[in-house]
Amino acid sequence: MKINRLFLLCFALIMGVALQSCCDIKGDNYSMKNGMIVFDEPARAAGQESMLQFAADPIPVVRVGFVGLGMRGPGAVGRFTHIQGVEIKGLCDLEQKNVTKCQPYLTNAGMPKADEYVGPEAYKELCEREDIDLIYIATDWLHHVPIAVYAMEHGKHVAIEVPAATSIEECWQLVDTSERTRRHCMMLENCVYDFFELTCLNMAQQGLFGEIVHAEGAYIHNLSDFWGDYHENWRLDFNQKHRGDVYATHGFGPVCQALNIHRGNRLTHLVSMDSKSVVGLETAKQKMGATEFANGDHTVTLVQTENGQCIEIQHNVYTPRPYNRLYQLTGSKGFANKYPISGFTFLPGQIPSEILKGATVEAQKIDLSKVDPASIPEATLNPHSFVSAEVQNAILQAYKHPIHREIEETAKKVGGHGGMDFVMDYRLVYCLQNGLPLDQDVYDAAEWSCIGELSATSAKHNSMPVAVPDFTRGDWNKVQGLKFHMKK
Ligand SMILES: NC(=O)c1ccc[n+]([C@@H]2O[C@H](COP(=O)([O-])OP(=O)(O)OC[C@H]3O[C@@H](n4cnc5c(N)ncnc54)[C@H](O)[C@@H]3O)[C@@H](O)[C@H]2O)c1
Repeated sequence: MKINRLFLLCFALIMGVALQSCCDIKGDNYSMKNGMIVFDEPARAAGQESMLQFAADPIPVVRVGFVGLGMRGPGAVGRFTHIQGVEIKGLCDLEQKNVTKCQPYLTNAGMPKADEYVGPEAYKELCEREDIDLIYIATDWLHHVPIAVYAMEHGKHVAIEVPAATSIEECWQLVDTSERTRRHCMMLENCVYDFFELTCLNMAQQGLFGEIVHAEGAYIHNLSDFWGDYHENWRLDFNQKHRGDVYATHGFGPVCQALNIHRGNRLTHLVSMDSKSVVGLETAKQKMGATEFANGDHTVTLVQTENGQCIEIQHNVYTPRPYNRLYQLTGSKGFANKYPISGFTFLPGQIPSEILKGATVEAQKIDLSKVDPASIPEATLNPHSFVSAEVQNAILQAYKHPIHREIEETAKKVGGHGGMDFVMDYRLVYCLQNGLPLDQDVYDAAEWSCIGELSATSAKHNSMPVAVPDFTRGDWNKVQGLKFHMKK
């Protein structure tokens, strides 16, 4: 009897402590459920419909207005002058000088000057115009969502620089507005169009890596030379106030595509850990007189997927280190790595012998007219090392993505991070012109952007697991596999 009572007492104490620690973890928009932090998920309102595979009517001539013409925006204006079937109707910024400096891109390309909009609310007038199809937003992060929502509510498709949104609430705003207004909302994640990444996506879709079990991505970029250049210090100011991986999408987007996120797979939960702030704090002391800095110098986040893969993403924009987006795919039969050295590893049999023989011919400068091709040895594949440079080149050529086959040459001429920015803009306009679903939809924008607040929340609670909201509201398994649509 005594033992039973003691047992009950201990049990009650343990439950009390457990309940107490569960109840300790409660935010304005999240609470603890089944050992995980779960953000509130608003139900889909009446009148909203899923935007999966959404295609608008074809727009033969895409009429565009640009908002945000600081360091990033003008390049986009310039790139659009190289795309057929585009009219640039309006240019908008807080500063007249930023608008003025973009007009020569148009006049040099033989296009008429665009109308000018200057001031904090001037974007509204631009969005209210009847003769514009697309609003292209390259402002600081905090203005992305208010401008995008206003534009969609005025019937415009929107393209938003990265990250599209800065909080879970903003992610839902984009999803709900896009679903309600039936307007495209694409985040301008350019790294998915980089040459190595898109080739690897093509290879992954053809099963060359076997089953992918782990992927890595990062944004490691020392911004010490740039902090002073952001308009009114918005970026350092944001990082000073926000913990977590606030700029995840360059590393995260390409690996999410390779893992078919919300196309038969989904992100389930994450855990995050950050270092203390040393360089960030020192920088903010000097530039802002700050005494605290929320964003850790180095943040590491691990995300689990429904199909059993792990994704690791890192963020560090402070310490001295070479630029690195990692981009790594670990599969049951092969491996790809982009930074700091690019390379592939494959099990024997994973790469067709014609490609391997081709590489051998190239490397040994063999004259095929004088040699029996059957006598040429195949370059070897093994599970321990990277393939040779010749084999790597042969693989990159053989598996070049159809989009790159179509547009690579022009993209490299026009430029923008080596051409990937042009591929992105070209694809956006191509899909609009042909009435096709866009390569990146509003759910990608939300899933890739939500890492900011989710990782901050995990780090704040000693790396507690945090559920990743299902922005498709249960539709993540309805489309099987990512597809970039082409006209018939
Ligand atoms: N994808 C990439 O590779 C890449 C590279 C650099 C920057 N970016 C993104 O581009 C965006 C802009 O970055 P940036 O480096 O050009 O910053 P920036 O400070 O140089 O430019 C931001 C511009 O937005 C304008 N702006 C702010 N509020 C506005 C409003 N209400 N109406 C009109 N204009 C407004 C400012 O006047 C400023 O000119 C950010 O989202 C950033 O993350 C992306």
